[in-house]
Amino acid sequence: MFEFDIQHRDGRARVAQFRTPRGTVTTPMFMPVGTQGTVKGISPQELTDIGSQMILGNTYHLMLRPGETLVAAHGGLPGFTAYPGPFLTDSGGFQVMSLGHMRKITEEGVVFKSHLDGSLVNLTPERSIQVQEALGADIIMAFDECPPYPAEREYILRSLERTERWLARCLNVKSRSEQALFAIVQGGVHEDLRERSLELTLPYDTPGFALGGLAVGEPKEEMYPAVAFTAGRLPEHKPRYLMGVGHPEDLVAGVALGVDMFDCVYPTRTGRFGYALTDEGRLNMNSSAPRTSMEPLDSGCDCYACRNYTRAYLAHLIRAEEMLGPRMLSLHNLRYLHRLMERARAAIQAGEFHAWASAWAARYFRQGV
Ligand code: GUN
Ligand code: ZN
Repeated sequence: MFEFDIQHRDGRARVAQFRTPRGTVTTPMFMPVGTQGTVKGISPQELTDIGSQMILGNTYHLMLRPGETLVAAHGGLPGFTAYPGPFLTDSGGFQVMSLGHMRKITEEGVVFKSHLDGSLVNLTPERSIQVQEALGADIIMAFDECPPYPAEREYILRSLERTERWLARCLNVKSRSEQALFAIVQGGVHEDLRERSLELTLPYDTPGFALGGLAVGEPKEEMYPAVAFTAGRLPEHKPRYLMGVGHPEDLVAGVALGVDMFDCVYPTRTGRFGYALTDEGRLNMNSSAPRTSMEPLDSGCDCYACRNYTRAYLAHLIRAEEMLGPRMLSLHNLRYLHRLMERARAAIQAGEFHAWASAWAARYFRQGV
C-alpha cells in the first residue's frame, strides 16, 4: 500500500502510479477541494466523469460542523459524501490561520474562536490526528504551522522547528495503518530555512511529503525557486504534494519541477465568480464578448458544458443568476485542470514535456490572463 511507482520521466517531471486503499491514482494530478464534504455544486458522479482522482477534505471545517463523530458514523468521508474514491484531509492548522479568530499558537497547539459560533476550540497535533482518523481519508496531513507572507525569518525558523515537534506528536498518536500521513516542509521562500525544515523532516521517512507555506501571497518569482529547491531535495520515490496551488501556470511549472499532487479552491471559486479557464487564458463571462458567442467555453474541452452549451447560453445563466451557471463553470474549470494534467502526463510519457509546456504557456498568456 502507498507504493509510488514512477513510470516515465522527462527532466525533473515524472508520471507515477500511487496506490491508496480506495484506488490507484495517476500523477501528476490535481485534487478538487471539498472543504465541507462537498466540492461546491458538483456531484460525486460528475467528479468521477471529469476524471477527478482524489478529493480534499478539511479537518477544521468538518470538526466544527457537523463534527467528526457524525462523519465516522457514516463510515467516514466516502460513506458520508458518497464519493467512493480516495480522499485526502488537511490537518486544520492552515485553515485556523486563515479563518479562525483570536487565535493563540503555543507549543501545545492552537486555540481559536470558531467562525461559526465564536466558541473557543483547541486544536493540537493529537486532536487533528484523532479527527482525521474519524474522517477516514486515505491520506492525512501532519498538523503544521504555515506562517503568513511576509514573516520575520526568526519567526519562520521557530515555527518550522515547532512544526517538526508537532510532526513527531502526530506520528506518536497515529493508529491506523490504512492511512498514510504526509509530513509538511515549511520555511517560507528562504532557501536556508527550507533546508533546515527538510533536515528536520526527512528523517521521519513518511510515505509522502508536502511543500507547505507557499502560495500565501508571495510573488511567483519567489515561489518557483522555493518549489525547485524543496522538490529537488525530497526523496525520488515518494509523492510530492504542493499545497494550495491551483493556477494553471503554477501546475505546469510545478510538474516541470517534479511535483506530483496539487489542490486549490481556484477552479471552483473562480468559476462561481464567472470566470472560465481556457487554453487562451481566463475568460470573463461577465464581459460583453461571450454574450453573443456561439462557441463553447474551450474548443478542446470534453466537459458537459462544452459539449452542450455556447458561451452565450452560459453567460446568460450567469447574468440571470441561475445556479446552473456557476455549477457549469466550476465543472468546466475542474475538467480543464484535470485535462491539463492529462496532457502533461502524455507529454512526459512522450519525452516532450518541455516543448508541450512552452507551447501551452505561449497560447495561455498570448491574450493576457
Ligand atoms: N494549504 C496550503 N498551504 C498549506 C500549509 O502550509 N499547510 C497546510 N496544512 N495546509 C496548507
Ligand atoms: Zn468544458
